[in-house]
Amino acid sequence: MPIDANLISLRPITAETVRAITGLSVSESQKGFVAPNAISLSQALFSPEAWYRAIYLGEEPVGFVMLEDESLRSPQPDTPKVGVWRFMIDAKFQGRGIGKVALLHVIEHVRSKGLFKRLKLSYVPGPGCPEPFYLGLGFQHTGEVDGNEIVLEIPLRQNA
Ligand SMILES: CC(C)(COP(=O)(O)OP(=O)(O)OC[C@H]1O[C@@H](n2cnc3c(N)ncnc32)[C@H](O)[C@@H]1OP(=O)(O)O)[C@@H](O)C(=O)NCCC(=O)NCCS
Repeated sequence: MPIDANLISLRPITAETVRAITGLSVSESQKGFVAPNAISLSQALFSPEAWYRAIYLGEEPVGFVMLEDESLRSPQPDTPKVGVWRFMIDAKFQGRGIGKVALLHVIEHVRSKGLFKRLKLSYVPGPGCPEPFYLGLGFQHTGEVDGNEIVLEIPLRQNA
């Protein structure tokens, strides 16, 4: 049964919820695709451009997203860029449409800032990698490779 999209929200992480968020995990076979949330939050401490939220299903935390949003830098670059840095849904909650709705919320957040032409991300290729998930949401190949990762992007404006 499809998930009720209204139950999915992105929420700030607090002192009360951080342990629940660092307790979320992907399956063993997916661990090469995304860093543990505790690592991501540690990096965020030292990255002014990090924007991060917990993904909730109703009142239950089920995932984590972190953007690299250059508009958060001080001073702000003339043409800031934005990319998805980390994105995960806990293994127990995958395959229910939660990732799709959550990423649409992320895209809306980024688009609503009115500062960016496109949202980029990259993934580690291999069996079970999230490429089909992203292509299904409208991301497109750019032809770029970042280290061992394949770069995708989605336009945020017409004529982008
Ligand atoms: C990728 C991920 C976030 C998707 O979250 P999810 O909640 O399981 O995805 P959804 O249930 O919303 O799936 C939406 C669609 O994508 C498809 N899909 C999801 N993950 C897929 C995968 N790894 N391979 C192929 N298709 C996939 C689903 O079948 C579904 O297709 P449909 O719309 O035709 O039914 C989740 O599997 C995950 O956390 N993976 C491990 C970490 C990871 O790879 N993160 C990305 C780092 S770049």
